[in-house]
Amino acid sequence: MKNIKFDFNNMFSLNVGAIHGISDGDLAKISEALKSVHEHLSELLTDRKSRVDLSLEWANLPFQDKTEIEKIQKMGDQIAAKYQNVLSLGIGGSFLGLKAAQDALCSAYYNDFPRVRNGRPRIYFEGNNLDPETLSVLLKELNPKKTFVVVISKSGETTETKAAFSLVEKWLAAGAGKNYGRQVVAITDPESGTLRKKVIAQQAKDPSSFRDLPLLKGVGGRFSELNMGLLHLAIVGVDIRQVLSGAAAMAKRCQSGDIFKNPALMYAALQTLQYLKNWKPIAIMMPFSETLKSTADWYSQLLAESLGKKYARKITLSPEGREVWEQDKNRVVNVGRTPVPCRGTNDLHSIQQNNIEGANDKTVTFIRVEKFRADLELTGKNDLLSGKKFSQLLNLAQEATEWALVKESRPNCTVVMPEVNPYHWGELIFFFEMATAYEGELLNVNAFDQPGVEGYKNYMYFKLKKPGLPAEVSAQIKKKPLIKKAKYII
Ligand code: PA5
Repeated sequence: MKNIKFDFNNMFSLNVGAIHGISDGDLAKISEALKSVHEHLSELLTDRKSRVDLSLEWANLPFQDKTEIEKIQKMGDQIAAKYQNVLSLGIGGSFLGLKAAQDALCSAYYNDFPRVRNGRPRIYFEGNNLDPETLSVLLKELNPKKTFVVVISKSGETTETKAAFSLVEKWLAAGAGKNYGRQVVAITDPESGTLRKKVIAQQAKDPSSFRDLPLLKGVGGRFSELNMGLLHLAIVGVDIRQVLSGAAAMAKRCQSGDIFKNPALMYAALQTLQYLKNWKPIAIMMPFSETLKSTADWYSQLLAESLGKKYARKITLSPEGREVWEQDKNRVVNVGRTPVPCRGTNDLHSIQQNNIEGANDKTVTFIRVEKFRADLELTGKNDLLSGKKFSQLLNLAQEATEWALVKESRPNCTVVMPEVNPYHWGELIFFFEMATAYEGELLNVNAFDQPGVEGYKNYMYFKLKKPGLPAEVSAQIKKKPLIKKAKYII
């Protein structure tokens, strides 16, 4: 079995010069740091009890219990056989992984043609915005009797998902009859949250209502596709075992402390050096495959929410000797590379101009696909495109983009995927998850929380008069208007 490869030649001074490149000496200088990062993370991954909040559980997802997986696969097949549409509600980590999988592993134009989707249900993603213009169409056009609903929210409290589900539930109840709950699966925290309470209440009335799937404790958000996303994979007919076995293959490569054997550790090391030593704070993610565009969107969230942090991490030990991670409020670091998702060749006619001639403050990560699931050949004579395949031209464009970047001393690297299929996609997402975890260690921030997103939520909750809002939060909003409405508007 071929595996994905990581080509990082163009990150080095060898190709992009001493100012913008990395030298072997630079790597050697951080080798001790890399060693301890690898050891620390490996210890936390293998010794589940060493962390208080268990937020590294995601790293064990490739090795999930096979019987549970079979049950989910079967459940997906049953839903697919019975329903024409599936409405998947969720936002952030409860949406982006599913969308990435949908676009990578299902055929293009999946929703449009029954043959293309092998007769499986159409998939609609909602609850990822409060824009009323999208859900309102679905509530008018879909037949509730033929629609299955999967609502995903780890916390069970997220406003966007809650608002969408509230409407969808009423719509189902009105249109699908009193047993509408049998058309709902909820994926949420096993113990807490409003959605969990709803599941408990519904199941008490009818055990077949609001079926729920085990959301593993400690797995959440952007690291949770291999948990939250499994039912979706099963519904669209993807072999979950393939995805997990690709992820497991990458997990095994990441067990190595040798940076030349562990691609995720190498990725993290080079990106961190480029960021801190050569000041490349912008991360361009550019797959040369339309099907991986949403994977680039998923990666953007992974990078931004995991590493964009105000405070450094402070590690203390609990009385039982477990690690406790806190924000060190005395150490403001404001770190994190800024992700820019794009794709080739589309964005060669847009963002690429800036990549080549704008500020040299970026690294570009390409994802190159070696074999496509379909191809087209150009016919005709005497034309430079005659006899060429689209896949050849696409990969030539990627090679040309690499060349153009190197010519201008712009660091870049390439993840080479033999093919976009469940196995390699599993490898790919696990590669980025591990790389992000390593980068968090190198930056000494907590890659698994997202305190920054609380600000807007608190403001909304305050305005919506949510009960139980901490007094200091309300006080801060009430104190004085932070945003002064002055004369600067025309
Ligand atoms: O990565 C994260 O943790 C977040 O992006 C969450 O996924 C997002 O806020 C949605 O949260 P929830 O699943 O609790 O509704």
